[in-house]
Amino acid sequence: MTPARALAYPSRAMHRLEIPADLDKSATYAELLASLRAVVEDEPDLIANLANITAVLKQGLGDVSWVGFYRQIGPDLVLGPFQGKLACTRIAAGRGVCGAAAASRTTVVVPDVEVFPGHIACDAGSRSEIVVPIVYRGALVAVLDLDSESHGRFDAVDARHLEEVAALAAGLAW
Ligand code: SME
Repeated sequence: MTPARALAYPSRAMHRLEIPADLDKSATYAELLASLRAVVEDEPDLIANLANITAVLKQGLGDVSWVGFYRQIGPDLVLGPFQGKLACTRIAAGRGVCGAAAASRTTVVVPDVEVFPGHIACDAGSRSEIVVPIVYRGALVAVLDLDSESHGRFDAVDARHLEEVAALAAGLAW
């Protein structure tokens, strides 16, 4: 890859991340999905792509304090690329919101983490959370986790669009 070509990706992605403030939630996600597709389309490296997905989501979504991946490695979910504060490194099978989403292979929306049984408080400031499973060739390979310092930050609209992000992530080089 020539230096000029290497520079083209962040330039194009950053341009498309200038999201108008008056867009509604679905339109914002549509813009973010377009940016994400552009960011990952020519890059084969899994970690680079997961890292940039977290950056685009953290930068493009409002009121989100933490965005990251936990990868399924052996029986545990292990911290992957993320944006936000220091986080729990390893989550045992079935533990926390992440473990619940991984075990059920369904998106888990938690409007109030304080009333979710077994919630793992990596950040005491977190108030709501959404975790989306990522399934590649029939296997749970990771979860995508977003936290907010606001109660009820995530809803069915977030779930639907973050599942599109998870589908994009599932197509990467796991
Ligand atoms: N709260 C998560 C743990 C991961 S952090 O939010 C980054 C859970 O209960 O699984």
